[in-house]
Amino acid sequence: MRLLVTGGAGFIGSNFVHHVLAHTDDHVTVLDKLTYAGNRASLAGLPEDRLTFVHGDITDAPLVDELFGQVDAVVHYAAESHNDNSLHDPRPFLDSNIVGTYTLLEAARRHGTRLHHISTDEVYGDLQLDDPARFTEHTPYNPSSPYSSTKAGSDLLVRAWVRSFKVAATISNCSNNYGPYQHVEKFIPRQITNVIRGIRPKLYGAGLNVRDWIHADDHSSAVLTILEKGRIGQTYLIGADGEKNNRSVIELILTQMGQDADAYDHVTDRPGHDLRYAIDSTKLRTELGWRPRYRDFEAGLAATIDWYRRNEPWWAPAKDATEAFYARQGQ
Ligand code: NAD
Ligand code: DAU
Repeated sequence: MRLLVTGGAGFIGSNFVHHVLAHTDDHVTVLDKLTYAGNRASLAGLPEDRLTFVHGDITDAPLVDELFGQVDAVVHYAAESHNDNSLHDPRPFLDSNIVGTYTLLEAARRHGTRLHHISTDEVYGDLQLDDPARFTEHTPYNPSSPYSSTKAGSDLLVRAWVRSFKVAATISNCSNNYGPYQHVEKFIPRQITNVIRGIRPKLYGAGLNVRDWIHADDHSSAVLTILEKGRIGQTYLIGADGEKNNRSVIELILTQMGQDADAYDHVTDRPGHDLRYAIDSTKLRTELGWRPRYRDFEAGLAATIDWYRRNEPWWAPAKDATEAFYARQGQ
């Protein structure tokens, strides 16, 4: 199969490209704008005869049209992905997440191309800490931030193009990913690289907010499963039963890195900060037979810490600017 992967130089997209090239015979074309979050080095060392890199924007309709004409299926990761940035400057989120997805849908419609749209559990808003419920495919949309509202909008565009124009699309909504190649603006890599640099980790508010962690490689295997076996028009939730509050994750990072568990600072909370996300992935598991491989979060975190220790040249160029941005927000 010839695959087009949008956003393949970002965190989860690059993990997916590594996964596909290791587990299939597919050829992959990556389309990526190389925003501050894209990094060509995340694709280094992959077999050159099976990977083509195209530097470009998913809102560039002629380019997108040309690339859709050359592939059998498209997996769409490209997006502005960081909540804190969306609170500071929402505009790029509207362009890439809404107009970008629209541009791909129109190309899929013209070419009859199979499309898998990558989305997030944040489209469902948040759950209370004492609520035993988890998100399912039937949970109503209720996004909180500019980021999650543009992702919700992009999901609804995909659903409308499936129904109105018979575009052959599927959607997945996944929980918080961790693993190698994640930008240092995000929670786990920010704290790991802070400790490496001798900066105290930063916890928003009281840190009781819960995220449902999944290793990026498990996200990749789930997406490949949906691409191969998913029913057109369906949505699948992806999660690995990894609920943890932020305070416990920061304490784990500190102890795994040989520091005192309380050697962190409480900083200004995120406005509108979602309390808890939790995924019920029963549909994906029962209908398509998917299972996560990384079931031990502590072991996955230790491997991630090790990756950031060994790959300082990959993350160092972004570290100072990221911390300067946070310092201006009191975070
Ligand atoms: P990321 O910010 O690390 O990477 C995004 C990539 O998209 C970058 O390489 C960037 O250059 C590229 N990009 C952005 N705008 C573009 C445009 N207009 N044209 C072409 N390329 C563009 O993001 P990520 O964390 O890897 O997230 C990837 C996808 O997965 C997003 O759609 C996000 O909503 C979704 N998602 C993320 C998580 C998570 O925990 N990070 C969880 C669930 C879903
Ligand atoms: O749930 C899926 C989503 O997970 C994806 O759609 C997003 O693209 C991805 O960025 C992530 O969103 P979050 O906002 O949950 O991730 P982030 O890494 O920004 O923050 C995780 C939690 O940690 C959140 O509750 C805020 C908190 N936090 C974050 C940072 C950067 C801190 O306490 N301190 C920090 O320094």
